[in-house]
Amino acid sequence: MPLVTLKEVLAAAEAGGFAVGAFNANNLEIVQAIVEAAEAERSPVILQASQGALKYAGIKYIAALARVAAETSSVPVVLHLDHGTSFAQTMQCLRHGFTSVMFDGSGHVLEENIAATRRVVEVAQAMGASVEGELGKIGGTEDDISVDEREALLTDPQEARRFVEETEVDALAVAIGTAHGPYKGMPRLDFDRLAAIDRLTAVPLVLHGASGVPDDSICRAVALGVRKINIDTDLRQAFTGGVRRALLDGGSEYDPRKILGPAKEAMKAVVREKIRLFGCSGKA
Ligand code: G3H
Ligand code: 13P
Ligand code: ZN
Repeated sequence: MPLVTLKEVLAAAEAGGFAVGAFNANNLEIVQAIVEAAEAERSPVILQASQGALKYAGIKYIAALARVAAETSSVPVVLHLDHGTSFAQTMQCLRHGFTSVMFDGSGHVLEENIAATRRVVEVAQAMGASVEGELGKIGGTEDDISVDEREALLTDPQEARRFVEETEVDALAVAIGTAHGPYKGMPRLDFDRLAAIDRLTAVPLVLHGASGVPDDSICRAVALGVRKINIDTDLRQAFTGGVRRALLDGGSEYDPRKILGPAKEAMKAVVREKIRLFGCSGKA
């Protein structure tokens, strides 16, 4: 089927009380691993490309790969820009057929974040596409910060209400203690904050940095209103682990297909596990 919007799949997730997986894609094998996993689980899925992915593969390749993946599959597939920070690039993605964009204005002060995100929403709405905004700062695990500094970075529930009302985003990424990349210790999620944000906003919430977050924390976040869950690091590790094993076991193997094929299968297995964990299996 043709690519669908984020708004559409998240509305179904809201009605059903589950979350849809958003998986980062950078090349053919990754797109196939994600969409084949979704197909096997009969699950909707979000393919997302970061600015780095667009630089690596090229926007035309990413858009074409996602379009073909969606058209040859029987489950709903969204093509989403992950952490877009430039107005021009979000527009370029919309022109190339992305059905959803994230505008990450978290580097700006609240007023500027609202104004910049609103500008993207106005164009995206007119083009029938969805927008995810971000409020608060989702750090990297390399960030070594104090408790007070951490608090200051997390999403303020009252600000979230104002941000959602004024921008009219379709989904809101929240900072509640998760971080991008591998965790050093155990991630500590602020569930009270998540519950307060959910009470004060009427949009589906997005959890970034979900690789390495324990299963029970993921389930609790879904119960408290998280409807889109971003996973990249766990997929990278599965793929790279697959490449390493294929190279070690394969001796003098030189056919890329014999190396990337098993890596793709290893990634696919992780995507299937995540889809089941998010309660999204069988929801297509
Ligand atoms: O949130 C970041 C994603 O893991 C994408 O990472 O910018 O290295 O492609 P990247
Ligand atoms: P992880 O790499 O920590 O899973 O984060 C992914 C993400 O949030 C992409 O936006
Ligand atoms: Zn992210």
